[in-house]
Amino acid sequence: MPREWLCTSAELAERGRAVGWDVLEYGRPQRAFVLRVDGVPRGWLNRCLHVPVEMDWNPGEFLDSERRYILCSIHGAAYDPTHGQCVGGPCGRGRLTPVTVAEEGGQVYWYPSRDIRPVPFDDVPPATPAAPPPAA
Ligand code: FES
Repeated sequence: MPREWLCTSAELAERGRAVGWDVLEYGRPQRAFVLRVDGVPRGWLNRCLHVPVEMDWNPGEFLDSERRYILCSIHGAAYDPTHGQCVGGPCGRGRLTPVTVAEEGGQVYWYPSRDIRPVPFDDVPPATPAAPPPAA
């Protein structure tokens, strides 16, 4: 399956705001996100191991105040952003689900897998039809 474009490299500051996008995991809608950590874009499903909810404090804001760990906004589970391992809080011994991402030529891409796929274009809800012009 071909790679999918995500964003420009300039949009991912070191330990800055993440870029999120929609995926299908086993056919079910999920959110994913990519963060730049130690110079490398790293992708994850946006799903906490404690309760399967999205973790960001505000859209794209995942890191703690020291920009060291991914911190779940619900109950404070902390994950190492380099390998996704739970390092504190109620997330146990698991790790976040990785999504393969790569950077090339100033662009960031993600690579669908057998389990995590793009949302088909046909699933995008149709745009609201334009209102008819007012009667003369
Ligand atoms: S839902 Fe993430 S720590 Fe509870």
